Amino acid sequence: MTKNLFFLFFFIIIIFLQSPPRIQSQRIPRNISIFILAGQSNMAGRGGVYNDTATNTTVWDGVIPLECRPNPSILRLTAKLKWEVAKEPLHVDIDVNKTNGIGPGMPFADRLFYRFGQVGLVPCSIGGTKLSQWQKGEYLYEETVRRAKAAVASSGGGSYRGILWYQGESDTVDMVDASVYKKRLVKFFSDLRSDLEQPNLPIVQVALATGAGPYLDAVRKAQLKTDLENVYCVDAMGLPLEPDGLHLTTSSQVLLGQMLAKTFVDIPNSAKTTVPLYLPLLVSSLCSLYYLIFFEVLRHTFL
Ligand SMILES: *[C@@H]1O[C@H](CO)[C@@H](O)[C@H](O)[C@H]1NC(C)=O
Ligand SMILES: *[C@@H]1O[C@H](CO)[C@@H](O)[C@H](O)[C@H]1NC(C)=O
Ligand SMILES: *[C@@H]1O[C@H](CO)[C@@H](O)[C@H](O)[C@H]1NC(C)=O
Ligand SMILES: *[C@@H]1O[C@H](CO)[C@@H](O)[C@H](O)[C@H]1NC(C)=O
Repeated sequence: MTKNLFFLFFFIIIIFLQSPPRIQSQRIPRNISIFILAGQSNMAGRGGVYNDTATNTTVWDGVIPLECRPNPSILRLTAKLKWEVAKEPLHVDIDVNKTNGIGPGMPFADRLFYRFGQVGLVPCSIGGTKLSQWQKGEYLYEETVRRAKAAVASSGGGSYRGILWYQGESDTVDMVDASVYKKRLVKFFSDLRSDLEQPNLPIVQVALATGAGPYLDAVRKAQLKTDLENVYCVDAMGLPLEPDGLHLTTSSQVLLGQMLAKTFVDIPNSAKTTVPLYLPLLVSSLCSLYYLIFFEVLRHTFL
């Protein structure tokens, strides 16, 4: 009996040492790698959002896949410009008039954090917005610049790593919007890079899977051929959709996030590691070894 109690006691001590209680809720980042998430609903995330017929409102089903689980190495800049451990829905306090669900941000970061040590996501997307609303001088543009600068100012020596952009569904309705999409996009990307003082900041955008109107092909063509240096495109066409026919499902968003991550790491010099790759592996194997030895010793001492 006492042997078992001893065992339990040691076990609790070890658990305690492994995860000391956290006092402050705001995380202070160290050399964080910052990614800006901008666009409309499919970047904000509608995976798992459905119409609840009983209440006639849209609700999120709350299903969080493994790839989207919180991770202490993945932070999120809140609407109040504080860093916190990121959790779904990432845009909950940003796209406030809509019901947010799963988007591509978490599965993207899940594929990258071990390369950087710490990843900081800066959600800026608003559902139903047109590209004209993202031009320099407009509210969404200025808000994105403000949030991005606040992110870097509180990043503990960190830096911008890239921009993820998924927008354009609302520009497929009007022929003029669709025909000037490329021109507006090049201006938006160039202005944003210049205001962040990062003339060559990698941008990975998504070519539309769906559109609200008839000019989907015109917008997709602009996205697939943006002709700007260090701007890459991932095609979402064909990914499974929610019943509304406009939004990617939760599993489509996981896949999209992983496609974005793959494209990002393939960009030359984009993912230079601040922490050697073998370090997390070494630490985790040392921990396992330590546990094994510890329990062996306990077994011989008490049993
Ligand atoms: C950030 O990284 C630089 C070099 O990469 C290092 O000198 C500095 O101490 C780091 N800062 C923090 C807060 O870890
Ligand atoms: C919810 O219903 C409205 C109309 O009743 C429809 O326009 C919308 O696409 C539906 N949303 C989802 C997520 O199914
Ligand atoms: C549900 O809400 C929509 C608008 O949000 C409205 O047009 C529709 O009539 C409502 N349906 C019911 C059954 O109340
Ligand atoms: C939400 O709706 C309010 C009231 O219509 C509006 O003032 C505000 O700008 C909207 N916010 C966003 C992020 O869409």
